[in-house]
Amino acid sequence: MSEVKGMKKILIIGSGISGMTAAISCAQKGMHAIMVSPFMSERAQSVMAEGGINAALDNMGEGDSVEKHIEDTLKGGNMLAGELAVRDLCEKAPEIIRWLENLGTVFSLKADGRIDQRAFGGQSCRRTCYCGASTGKQIVTALIMEARRYEAMGLIERRIWNDFHSGLIRDGRCYGALIYNEASGQLEPVYADAVIMATGGQNALFGKTTGSTQCDGYAAGRLFMQGAMLKNLEFIQYHPTTLETGQKKMLVSEAARGEGGRLYYEEDGRRVYFMEDMYGEKGNLMPRDVVSRCMYDTKRQVYLDMTMLGEKIDSKIPEIRDVCLKYGGIDIHKESVPVSPSVHFFMGGFAVDAGHMTNIEGLYAVGECASRYHGANRLGGNSLLAAVYSGMTAAEAIYAKSDSAVSESSGIETASGEKPDFSEYFKEYIEEERGKFFGLFGSESKFPVMYLRDMAAETMNRDLGIVRDEEQLQNGIADLDYYIDLAEHIRYDRSVLPYFNYSVGAILVLAKATLICARERRESRGAHYRSDYPETSEDMRAATLISYDDGEFNVSLDREGRFER
Ligand code: FUM
Repeated sequence: MSEVKGMKKILIIGSGISGMTAAISCAQKGMHAIMVSPFMSERAQSVMAEGGINAALDNMGEGDSVEKHIEDTLKGGNMLAGELAVRDLCEKAPEIIRWLENLGTVFSLKADGRIDQRAFGGQSCRRTCYCGASTGKQIVTALIMEARRYEAMGLIERRIWNDFHSGLIRDGRCYGALIYNEASGQLEPVYADAVIMATGGQNALFGKTTGSTQCDGYAAGRLFMQGAMLKNLEFIQYHPTTLETGQKKMLVSEAARGEGGRLYYEEDGRRVYFMEDMYGEKGNLMPRDVVSRCMYDTKRQVYLDMTMLGEKIDSKIPEIRDVCLKYGGIDIHKESVPVSPSVHFFMGGFAVDAGHMTNIEGLYAVGECASRYHGANRLGGNSLLAAVYSGMTAAEAIYAKSDSAVSESSGIETASGEKPDFSEYFKEYIEEERGKFFGLFGSESKFPVMYLRDMAAETMNRDLGIVRDEEQLQNGIADLDYYIDLAEHIRYDRSVLPYFNYSVGAILVLAKATLICARERRESRGAHYRSDYPETSEDMRAATLISYDDGEFNVSLDREGRFER
């Protein structure tokens, strides 16, 4: 079936697991999904997800239940995530696993043919379903196959080598997006009944992380500047076990500790298993914020020993074996791996309601770029789950909205019922943005724009680490003010893609917003640890909301739980 008159048209920015799930779910409901991304899904950050996806299937016979999944998730998130949101997520998890399995995801199985489940940090039962240590890749592969079916029916349209530029937003409603088409070199408007952002986290703010620098936070920064509210930006997850390499921080999946790997440091020629000393048998599998902070406190090089796993290395975590050998020259059958905590996941992002809509009508966010389920610290295995769940939920919410701005193939109705001619409606904005965009090309200046991103990342790593304080955060904000000012005065650096030039300003604004949120949360909770406010304050048990208005950053605590419903 190809696009028909009156069919809702949904623009999806991003083609990883959450974006593809949203596209498939839209198509299943007879909506037309246009999926825009710079690269094909096979190169989305989602393929880097290793350890697994949570669902209380109780295949291990340990008495697991949805209630326990909810309890662990809320506790792991330091009671900051909304209970209703977490309940919805965990209740749907078993059905999501069945859906993924039916699509052809190759889960690792037990001898009885049921899906195997492994132990993961902060969980009371073995609950994490997995595919060796390449769970993300297997899910992406299954979703691509399904998306192709709908592509063949004309319900999903894929546009690669296309970058998000900005939202087409007027009077608090989103009508589509301006897209930079790398092939034509043009900024092109795409109008839609709804826009779903599925752009991942904000790795570029920190440079080297476990994730992909494709996920740079630009879309969140730009839409923030256009009126979208962001939430909980200060909660940044440091994954305890990463291997430092020239290019990046390679993830050594929590699966290694789930299978029995042990953390230690050396003192006076003997091994100190500090996590077990502090927390007993489950010490190595404490939530990530706890493990990372303990590692930080040791002030020593920490090692991960997996040698005791023997043949389990080859049967359960072969990808970890290969990564350590390839990037570190380490044979994990015989040697321990030097590991350190590194930025891995952003609990903060777009503030979204139960249907994953932002404060801007018609603008939705799913996957890591949305903030909803993880509170102050995410449990391993809940990210892939939330990616799939949020993609499905947004599609359902859009489908259910009868008042949404629909008309014949991308002609859109406003809330008041008029059907504007969109080339007129956004004419001025598009002309202005095209002018700015092509203005970047005019100059002979060779300012190395990537250098600005690197400097900002240096500031973020220095001032927004595992432990922060007011003075550091204030210094970081001052640095960012300087970089933002610089970015406003630089011109096109011809040695890099245009995208990197027009994106840098909003990335810096997002970095500053993150530092401001961290400064304003004067307590310690989950992944946000303040040495000057080491206690958790009951009074601050609410999400941080931040908005932007013509250069002003406004922060508040969402005490009414505005986005919880
Ligand atoms: O360690 C890991 O495999 C990471 C999993 C996750 O972040 O969910």
